[in-house]
Amino acid sequence: MKKYVLGIESSCDETAVSVVSDDKKILSNVVYSQIKEHKDFGGVVPEIAARSHLDSISWVIKQAMLEANITFKDLSAVAGVSGPGLIGGLLVGMQSAKAIAFANDIPFIAINHLEAHALTARLTNDVSFPFLLLLVSGGHTQILQVNGVGDYKVIGKTLDDAVGEAFDKTAKILNIGYPGGPELEKRAKLGNPNNIKLPSPMVGKQNCDFSFSGLKTRVRHLYDENKNNIDQEYINDMCASFQVAVAKSINNRLEKSFKIFRKNKENKKYDFVIAGGVASNLYLRDEIKKLCEKNNFEFNAPPVNLCTDNGVMIAWAGVENLKVNNFSSFDMPANPRWNLEELKNEK
Ligand code: KG4
Ligand code: ZN
Repeated sequence: MKKYVLGIESSCDETAVSVVSDDKKILSNVVYSQIKEHKDFGGVVPEIAARSHLDSISWVIKQAMLEANITFKDLSAVAGVSGPGLIGGLLVGMQSAKAIAFANDIPFIAINHLEAHALTARLTNDVSFPFLLLLVSGGHTQILQVNGVGDYKVIGKTLDDAVGEAFDKTAKILNIGYPGGPELEKRAKLGNPNNIKLPSPMVGKQNCDFSFSGLKTRVRHLYDENKNNIDQEYINDMCASFQVAVAKSINNRLEKSFKIFRKNKENKKYDFVIAGGVASNLYLRDEIKKLCEKNNFEFNAPPVNLCTDNGVMIAWAGVENLKVNNFSSFDMPANPRWNLEELKNEK
């Protein structure tokens, strides 16, 4: 019999709920974005986010159930984001998931937000374990070997800013609107990267780590130096150059990680997955795809609307955990800092 899982996401500034079935059907996908509420502040304000999640969670759940056209009694489990993220939002989503599960006498599954990003491509594409993962979001930038549900090994990570954070901060310096990542990508399409030279961080370094704060600072210095001659063309060129520098840095790090991943493995074509909000950047996707093809990795990326935060990824991570009987207790606390390698010890 088909199994249905309700998934609730509320770790940052999206209140999102979805129903997904174990045969990979998305029955509903409702996302309420708080962008307008945070715009004036140029970033997510935790207190506003928490209150907004509380205001919206009930109608978003109701809408997701209506669109899925099933009742709570038809669910096999309820999956709720439980970390990492902003504690106020996490509590709203996680407690709602627990309440529905408890009231209907079905299992509750606490979902790690990063695992949900990581597994989305197994819903939308044909991806098998083990695979190499580039996780690029607003709060995280990591390269991981994914051996199975709950089984992650970090190969490289950022030493300072996450890629999404670098996009957002750079966009703020250039004054091109909020949220920064998508705006910067739009501007980059109009600019010429050859007009401004920016360094590609970490290129040539032995490990697989990232660093983006220096790149952002370079943009700030150039912007300040040229303050009196800045026009829209200059801004567009800067965006194009920033994006090229980021792509080169990522690809250099990935090339190193390919070798580490392949160590002790035969030379077959393994899956590569890009996930997280920044994975919706089409320029980066394209550049990374070319690199994968050259290195005998199968490139996989979820559709753009499933890269940024959504309820589908939480519901699907619920399905994946349900399949391996990984349920959570009702006294499980929310965990604002919950890294993927910890999941293995919790089983
Ligand atoms: O995964 P996500 O929705 O939330 C977190 O878990 O952090 O990622 C949000 C991040 C933001 O930093 C946003 O600017 C970035 O993803 N982002 C992009 C693009 N769309 C979203 N960055 C670059 N290009 C994009 N098109
Ligand atoms: Zn996310």
